[in-house]
Amino acid sequence: MTKQQPWWNGAVIYQLIVRSFADGNGDGIGDLQGLANRLPYLRWLGVEAIWLTPIYPSPLQDGGYDITDFKSIHPELGDLAAFHRVLIAAHSHGIKVVMDLVLNHTSTLHPWFQRARWAPEGSPERDVYVWSDDPKRYADAPVLFRHFESSNWEWDEVAQQYYFHRFLRHQPDLNYDSPIVQKEMLDVVDFWIERGVDGFRLDAVPFLFETEGSRCEGLPETHEFLKRLRARVDSHGKDVLLLAEAIQPVEEAAPYLADDELHGAFNFALTAHLFASIASGTVEALRECLQAAQNAVGGSRWALPLRNHDELWLGDGHLVSEDVIQTIRAGLHQGQGHWLNWGINRRLAPLLNGDPGSNRVMHALLYSLPGLPCLYYGDELGMGDWPGLRDRDPNRTPMAWTPGRNGGFSTAPDPLLVLPPITAPGYDYRVVNVEVQKQLPGSLLNWHRRMLTCRKLLPALRNGGFELLECAHPGVIVYVRTNATMTVMVAANLSAAGASFRLDLSRWSGERTREVLWGCDFPPADADWFVYLAAHGFSWWLIGEVEESDNSSEDFEGQQDKLSPDPSGALGSPTSASSRRA
Ligand code: NOJ
Repeated sequence: MTKQQPWWNGAVIYQLIVRSFADGNGDGIGDLQGLANRLPYLRWLGVEAIWLTPIYPSPLQDGGYDITDFKSIHPELGDLAAFHRVLIAAHSHGIKVVMDLVLNHTSTLHPWFQRARWAPEGSPERDVYVWSDDPKRYADAPVLFRHFESSNWEWDEVAQQYYFHRFLRHQPDLNYDSPIVQKEMLDVVDFWIERGVDGFRLDAVPFLFETEGSRCEGLPETHEFLKRLRARVDSHGKDVLLLAEAIQPVEEAAPYLADDELHGAFNFALTAHLFASIASGTVEALRECLQAAQNAVGGSRWALPLRNHDELWLGDGHLVSEDVIQTIRAGLHQGQGHWLNWGINRRLAPLLNGDPGSNRVMHALLYSLPGLPCLYYGDELGMGDWPGLRDRDPNRTPMAWTPGRNGGFSTAPDPLLVLPPITAPGYDYRVVNVEVQKQLPGSLLNWHRRMLTCRKLLPALRNGGFELLECAHPGVIVYVRTNATMTVMVAANLSAAGASFRLDLSRWSGERTREVLWGCDFPPADADWFVYLAAHGFSWWLIGEVEESDNSSEDFEGQQDKLSPDPSGALGSPTSASSRRA
């Protein structure tokens, strides 16, 4: 018997903001009831898990990442019973539920903080947070939200001391040197696991501990605590995913993936390299980053987002090189303006100038590279954004469901809406919405659904090994994903011009090659295998025959009709190949 893989191995994760997704009670704010109503859509789309940005009580000074109670639900979104209903419904649709868990900080309105500021200096209650008389402590820790804060310290009149905050001044950092903090946060994890959640996206994990003379990121004590957390999760005997948000270069993010630490971590450096590739039309740096990530931690443990609810974080030269940052700033349509903190504050579609071809090729990579692909709500439609809204709100506007009132998000009058639905030219919800795109065979939405179906039928994309192949064309990346039953070859042209190139497939000489997205046979593999990819074109080929698998639901041969030629053109432009021998 083969060992059952954990549910997250290669799972496609759909990230959504509950308050912006669907309003179930007509008050203008998305909620858990609304989410429950829309779960059939997510099953139809083919995602395997949803990640909910924080749903805890919060004054919302940082989109809910400023929490006042870790064991409850924000009343505008519902209550624990409503959350239970979402969990049960999601599970009945075969969808796992991942919660955001903010370990590093709370809101200043959290009772722990209010108690701390009134407690005597040096008392256990005061020490739940990080205090100092000197705001120059930890001076090497960069200010992350540099457009909102000029220091990591804030003076507190009541405590008559400064408190430390890596994010907004409304978000004091918890002090993980305090046993009370460690105990409380481990209890929080127990609380939600007992309620049935399938995983946690661990917010801002690098920052749990501080040491003088360092950036205060990923310190040994932080890893020790995360190992305790992992042991605690394991003690429940359930498959619960721990996914780290650590915006660090690959070599600094990899240690979170030690065997006894976390299961997954976002690879933000790879995200930046994907954008740099599409901006420059070249793939060399992307190849290097991919190889480095695989060398550091093989398999499918890197989670890969294109966009999320934050700005596209590029950093101060620590995450990726200045060259990569400049390539993105200069080459992406919206790269120059819209700079917020250390990144670009725009959604995917406007960053790609609304070009569905670029959207498709980037997702064709996302869905075929090793790891957990993360799809941000609305990006499957090419949804736009609202520049000019405060902070990161431009990227957090209501999901567009229908061409009707408020895009079908809510029946409430406009002024009550959590954020304005998009009516910007080119992205108007009357055009860009689920209902309309479902009816258009060539729509981006139908394309995403079809790609996710193909991914399911090609388990090598989920759990297979990864190997880059040589390709002389500077704009084309080629790799193979191989597991016990199949070999899938992927080629993608990141440049905005057509590309013809030769591949040496002598290793599979004489084997059948079938393009699976278009459903057509290509010449047998050989040493001189020529391919043409249109601008931003891509292809997935099966090389050789598919071996029998013990998992009939993922049996490719039995389901080939699902991969028949695509009459709509929804998969992108056709590819051609020839072989000198053919
Ligand atoms: C990372 C989250 O993604 C971001 O939205 C938040 O502002 C910070 N962590 C602070 O919690």
